[in-house]
Amino acid sequence: MTKTFMVTTPIYYPSGKLHIGHAYTTVAADAIARFKRMNGFDTMFLTGTDEHGQKIQRKADAAGVTPQVYVDGIVAGIKDLWKLLDIRYDRFIRTTDEKHVGAVQEIFRRLYEQGDIYKSEYEGWYCTPDESFWTETQLKDGKCPECGRDVERTREEAYFFRLSKYADRIVELYAENPGFVLPASRVNEMLQNFLRPGLEDLCVSRTTFTWGIPVTFDPGHVVYVWVDALSNYITALGYASDDEADFRRYWPADVQLVGKEIVRFHTIIWPAMLMALGLPQPKHVFGHGWLTLEGAKMGKSTGNVVDPTILCDRYGVDAIRYFLLREMPFGADGAFTNEALIGRINSDLANDLGNLVSRTTAMVERYFDGVLPKDALDCPLEPADRELRALCDGLSGRVGTLLDQLQFSTALVEIWKVVGRSNKYIDETAPWTLAKTEALRPRLAAVLAHLAEVLRVVSILVTPFMPSTGPKIQEALGLSTIQTTSWESAALFGLFESDRIRKMDALFPRLDLAKEMEALVAVTPGAPAAAPAATADAHVVPEGVALIGIDDFARVQLRVARVLACERVPRSDKLLLLSLDLGDGKRQVVSGIATTYAPEALVGKSVVLVANLTPAKLRGIVSEGMILCALDHGTYRVLTVDGEVPAGTPVG
Ligand code: ME8
Repeated sequence: MTKTFMVTTPIYYPSGKLHIGHAYTTVAADAIARFKRMNGFDTMFLTGTDEHGQKIQRKADAAGVTPQVYVDGIVAGIKDLWKLLDIRYDRFIRTTDEKHVGAVQEIFRRLYEQGDIYKSEYEGWYCTPDESFWTETQLKDGKCPECGRDVERTREEAYFFRLSKYADRIVELYAENPGFVLPASRVNEMLQNFLRPGLEDLCVSRTTFTWGIPVTFDPGHVVYVWVDALSNYITALGYASDDEADFRRYWPADVQLVGKEIVRFHTIIWPAMLMALGLPQPKHVFGHGWLTLEGAKMGKSTGNVVDPTILCDRYGVDAIRYFLLREMPFGADGAFTNEALIGRINSDLANDLGNLVSRTTAMVERYFDGVLPKDALDCPLEPADRELRALCDGLSGRVGTLLDQLQFSTALVEIWKVVGRSNKYIDETAPWTLAKTEALRPRLAAVLAHLAEVLRVVSILVTPFMPSTGPKIQEALGLSTIQTTSWESAALFGLFESDRIRKMDALFPRLDLAKEMEALVAVTPGAPAAAPAATADAHVVPEGVALIGIDDFARVQLRVARVLACERVPRSDKLLLLSLDLGDGKRQVVSGIATTYAPEALVGKSVVLVANLTPAKLRGIVSEGMILCALDHGTYRVLTVDGEVPAGTPVG
């Protein structure tokens, strides 16, 4: 029997232009769906639009068109955006679809007939932009506690859903299924803010406007938009229609992704509705964080948004998808800044991945006319080969586990470890030197075959995140689909087989930071150029210190180096030229410490070298790194290593 997998996004309000915050949820759902498809799952990725309610009706009135005409135009734009972002959904539901309308009416009727819905009168407060009811005590300074905007006094005859009846069962559901609400921190939020204070029955019909699904047995009432909207997850599968085959096949959903502000609808009201209908609960509801602008949720308080189409046109869809999934852990908020975007594109995509692809393919073309010997990987292994293979070993499993846990960012970090190691492998094996000696051709072929094979593995693993980058790399490598289409094929090192590799330039062109920042200010007016000043605790971080993440630190390669020889740089009284032993090779470094150290004083010392610094020329001499020193009132103190440590040992 085929395994099935279902993932959902919230259905979006067609009440304005979608921004990059909306794209965030959908790109994440798409990545997980693609990953599951590559693992052979029969996948149902459901998304759509939430088209009813007072908010939409008012917008349509203001635009002077009917609500249906109003939403039709916007929904078309939303579908275009998903196409642009390479979102491959399996089903797109609109809550104005006839089938959905009929099914919601049937659900409402069933719940009424079994006594879970009853008629009474509603008096309280309503936040129209959020389509949420609030009691007097829930208001914050008389405003909506969720978004801080004005609420309206509402008094009308209405139907109620017996939400209070399900409170204990919801608490039990959380206790028995620790993964039901994710991340786990959100469970407490729900318990403390809503369940422990006690649930009130929920008003589920409105009479003061008409743009909604009519209650069949009481004309004049329309179904509350959240009951209408939440039902989409099952009506899209045919529930309460004459064809429930998909419902039987895919429900319960494996993962429902929602923004953190709507977790309460999905982990209180939605489970209670399912309980009342006697249906199974989704396996996980994941409340992700927000993309923020100037400290607030993008799109909410200021109306400031960043348009994804502009960014995609400028940098390509895959770069934007990568940024969204890499930049912040999925459960947390993250500030959107132009600087962070350009930084990621330049460092991870242009420098790391792009360089690896262009260096590898260019060398295969230059040294082997694009055709590597078939048996190139069956060579005697050297330590560097073993290290590279060890990193690839089990990589697809590790990345897969992280993806199953929706840890997109960490999964990408895991893949980038092998990308980084491979660039280093090129520097260590120095294929250009091997190419000078005919007898070393088999070794040269082995090195390049290792790199090509790593790229095959990486091209598979990046595909869920960047659906056209993976295939582009595969095309350059001349791979067949057998070696690339399934996740499983990434698990085996050594499948590489290609008739012809073609040089591939600039998968992601490097951007000029200053120029881009200037251009982006004009096209993404809402986005701040750079992150606001450090928000961390002032006791820990002195003012003015720019924080870096652990990943940034990990990019700096520090190694122990032994000083083999040292001499003054001619015509300079500041510079010394050091010859260093790095264990697996030698380096020369020019260092400005001659005012403190006589050359002979350094010979024999074990110093700390920044080993992956781009080489630079000083007084015409190439310096391949930098040694670390403290500077005390003009006197340099070289950092040395305590005890006997072999040259080349990593420092960190
Ligand atoms: O809430 N960062 O629709 P919606 C991250 N129709 N995510 C964001 C975001 C941001 N800045 N801005 C919006 C609704 N989102 C309802 C859902 S489901 C039965 C009904 C996310 O268009 C937001 O958190 O206001 C939510 O998950 C989704 O976009 C849809 O928001």
